[in-house]
Amino acid sequence: METIELVDSEIMRLSKITEELLTLSELEENGNRANLSQINIKRILEKMLKLFKNQISSKNLKLKASFNGDFEILGNKMHIEQVLFNLIDNAVKYSTPKKEIEISLNNDKYNKLLILDITNISEIIKEEDLPYIFDRFYKTSAITDKKGFGLGLSISKKIVENHNGSIKVGYNKDKKEITFKVYLPLFIEK
Ligand SMILES: Nc1ncnc2c1ncn2[C@@H]1O[C@H](COP(=O)(O)OP(=O)(O)O)[C@@H](O)[C@H]1O
Ligand SMILES: [Mg+2]
Repeated sequence: METIELVDSEIMRLSKITEELLTLSELEENGNRANLSQINIKRILEKMLKLFKNQISSKNLKLKASFNGDFEILGNKMHIEQVLFNLIDNAVKYSTPKKEIEISLNNDKYNKLLILDITNISEIIKEEDLPYIFDRFYKTSAITDKKGFGLGLSISKKIVENHNGSIKVGYNKDKKEITFKVYLPLFIEK
């Protein structure tokens, strides 16, 4: 690489980490009580999937999406978009090529929750990584790329919790399948 390109990409890298750290400290300071609006999650998911279309096809991934309803939540749209972006970005980035990524949207009417599941197959994760996966700066040892800082999931967790929701990770060792589950309170008009 040319020196100037190297410097450019280093600047990009540093500005990205600065941005992510700022987001994190901002979330910790203020929560996200500002800018609440009614958000249609299905619409945001469709928008995000469009963004990743090329990456999905260049890795020969199969996308299986099932959106079982039109769900609305009350939230900060920019933050919620960031969560969905982070989770889909991870699924695409860390999936083994040619495998399936599964995204499903459901609701638990009884508990008035929206449930978003994102599953992918990955070689880079091990069972012992899971307890640390939402920690700041945590990346599995198999990851050598310098683009990410291990902040995406901690930011996502913070945002989901600020929306009175929760985020969980599950792992199936035999299938090497990792699943992120996001639960968010549904918006129900009174
Ligand atoms: N969908 C996934 N499949 C496999 N590993 C994942 C997935 N999502 C996250 N990880 C692991 O967790 C780490 C932390 O993720 P994240 O906080 O988004 O940071 P980053 O993507 O910047 O490394 C990743 O580096 C990766 O090792
Ligand atoms: Mg990430």
